[in-house]
Amino acid sequence: MTAPTIERDVSLLVQEAIEKHGAHRDALIPILSEVNHALGYIPAEAFQEVHKQLQTEDVSVSKGQLFGLASFYDMLSTKPRGRHVIKFCENAPCHVVGGKAVWDALCDSLNLKNGETTPDKKWTLVTTSCLGLCSVGPVVLIDDDLYGNVVPGQIDKILARYE
Ligand code: FES
Repeated sequence: MTAPTIERDVSLLVQEAIEKHGAHRDALIPILSEVNHALGYIPAEAFQEVHKQLQTEDVSVSKGQLFGLASFYDMLSTKPRGRHVIKFCENAPCHVVGGKAVWDALCDSLNLKNGETTPDKKWTLVTTSCLGLCSVGPVVLIDDDLYGNVVPGQIDKILARYE
């Protein structure tokens, strides 16, 4: 029995995602999302696999197009991320109700800048566009948990929930 490799894991992941969502261009984002969800990001091998496996189904999409899609959407990442991803809404409605102070508290607490990951790979901090809860800004999304009306003094308490 041969040892598993990341290439084979990615190949299988992509194969399962294509089977689930279908081999057509409209399924590209769901296919990439499946890989992103399983691995926490989309490695270069995945673009190669999606390109190769869809080509055998007569769907033409270049690795560059796939990378472009993955880098356009905040929900997808082409770089490894921490076990927990913090997304901070940087749009105006959140900004005017104190978003900058919350952002500064997050950066200070984690000692991170936008897009960085802690050395222990626990946290990744990124800004994002509107999270759809503008009426309760500032808004922070940690993994699948939404926090509204966040104030700087709550940051350490919120982060502690993920210990
Ligand atoms: S502007 Fe921040 S959630 Fe909409």
